[in-house]
Amino acid sequence: MLRHVTAVRYATPLREGGSLPGLMEGDDLGTWVVKFSGAGQGPKALVAEVIVGELARELGLAVPELVGIDVDPELGRTEPDQEVQDLLRASAGLNLGMDYLPGSITYDPLAFDVTPEIAARVLWLDALTLNVDRSWRNPNLLVWGGRLWLIDHGAALYPHHDWASAAAAVGRVLPGIADHVLLPVVAAQPTTFAAADTALAPRIDAELLTAVLARVPDAWLDVPRADYVHWLLARVAARAPTRDAVTAALAQAHPAAEMAPGARVAAAALASRRRGASPADSAKAGRPDWLRAGDWLRTGGAAAVENRDA
Ligand SMILES: Nc1ncnc2c1ncn2[C@@H]1O[C@H](COP(=O)(O)OP(=O)(O)OP(=O)(O)O)[C@@H](O)[C@H]1O
Ligand SMILES: [Mg+2]
Repeated sequence: MLRHVTAVRYATPLREGGSLPGLMEGDDLGTWVVKFSGAGQGPKALVAEVIVGELARELGLAVPELVGIDVDPELGRTEPDQEVQDLLRASAGLNLGMDYLPGSITYDPLAFDVTPEIAARVLWLDALTLNVDRSWRNPNLLVWGGRLWLIDHGAALYPHHDWASAAAAVGRVLPGIADHVLLPVVAAQPTTFAAADTALAPRIDAELLTAVLARVPDAWLDVPRADYVHWLLARVAARAPTRDAVTAALAQAHPAAEMAPGARVAAAALASRRRGASPADSAKAGRPDWLRAGDWLRTGGAAAVENRDA
């Protein structure tokens, strides 16, 4: 299980996040980025956060600590924003906390050097877990203490929003590989991707996955933990098309410097993004038009993703 803390104060909403995460103080004196169970994406986004975040950690990548955090909606009573009040009321009880990295900045390919080895491992894991949220417009990578930190895995494992069709997605290739923020870094030394595959694939076995799944709170699960274990093992076994697609994308990748001006414009749009922005705004802010915060999950978006690439 994840460590458990109790929130004692609601500090402020983190408005740059589409799911309106909140910054909260815990009874452990920690400061936590809280992802709310009552947010539009639902508890399954939290399941994906735990599984992919903890898997990344087990594979040696840096992920801020994750905890279960108990939230009393009363903590938001002085928060003037009605949307925040509603979100807290819908999220009474257990939520997900991620250790807040003070002073961290969003990864910028021109400002911070990531080794191709680390970049290849992140790319490999994102491809395996179908993490569609690591684009160069919305990297969900932070730089802090001279290291690269992985955050925001709520959109990964998207087939779990429709278990009936999840079996058909075991061999599925990550949509939008060409937009992955670390693709140019890996492309500078493409053999690192095959090396990551050789190093990481054998480590993802039933024992590791069972240990990772044990950290997911019961309250957020709608299938047995073993279903996730089997599905991920099947993806590892069926990863050949994924490997081929990433290898092809690496061969066509543009250098980071060519992407950077666009990335900067998009980063500015991202900073001004607000929850409830129109689909057009979402697209401008860097979210693929088939992945708009909230609505794609509620309206069978997983199926839309399947159709988009069919
Ligand atoms: N652990 C952390 N430490 C510092 N800042 C963080 C942390 N987690 C998130 N943030 C900041 O808050 C923003 C929103 O967080 P996150 O991306 O997890 O939320 P989200 O609602 O899932 O966002 P998205 O719009 O990408 O779906 C991040 O882009 C980052 O700027
Ligand atoms: Mg994010």
